[in-house]
Amino acid sequence: MVLHPCYGLYVWPSAPVLAQYVWYNREMLTGKVVLEVGAGVALPGIVAAKVGAEVFLSDTEFLPQCLEHVSENISLNNLDSSKITIIAITWGFFSSQLLSLKPVDVILGSDCFYDTKDFEDILVTVVFLLKQNPIAQFWCAYQERSSDWTIEHLLTKWSLSCEEVPLANFDADSAEIGGSTMPGCHTVHLLVIKLKEFPSVLTTCVKCTEMT
Ligand SMILES: C[S@@+](CC[C@H](N)C(=O)[O-])C[C@H]1O[C@@H](n2cnc3c(N)ncnc32)[C@H](O)[C@@H]1O
Repeated sequence: MVLHPCYGLYVWPSAPVLAQYVWYNREMLTGKVVLEVGAGVALPGIVAAKVGAEVFLSDTEFLPQCLEHVSENISLNNLDSSKITIIAITWGFFSSQLLSLKPVDVILGSDCFYDTKDFEDILVTVVFLLKQNPIAQFWCAYQERSSDWTIEHLLTKWSLSCEEVPLANFDADSAEIGGSTMPGCHTVHLLVIKLKEFPSVLTTCVKCTEMT
């Protein structure tokens, strides 16, 4: 049952890749507000908290066991509970928790694009958050499951720019990252998505390749 991709009860192959990107950009994250969506066990968000960001970890309210699991992971990692908060955010839903969230600087998403029916809902939620803080960025690790799947038309529709960061730029082009063999032979991409009309002033330490 826990092998279904809806479940965030273990670390998916994209998560060590995104966590590594967070680590490589740790200097710019200190003191920043970071939200992880579809967090599951929340490896990238927990790394962001460890490097000094104020972190909100979110998953859907419709899978409460994921939110409970996030809570256990926070305890296991001895995180300062004043700097890390768990909230329920379901992609495409405008809950009171989403509406009352403070502006975020960086949104993290690891392996959220795994079901095409959710692709636009994820971006609608991201666009809502980026509009609260137009210089914010969405850092997203995407596992390629089908060459037919694309978010390109949605990026255009929602006026988003997208840059791919080559994995070699942050030493994530290997089957093993930080002692985890999860990336294995899976093809994972690291994307940085922003509002098109607001080029970000946040400077990441690794170079990107513009796609749209
Ligand atoms: C493939 S898992 C990835 C989990 C984790 N980010 C990782 O990479 O290890 C997908 C995650 O998205 C969450 N999720 C599924 N549908 C969602 C929705 N509609 N809104 C928000 N989160 C959702 C699941 O609970 C799960 O944690």
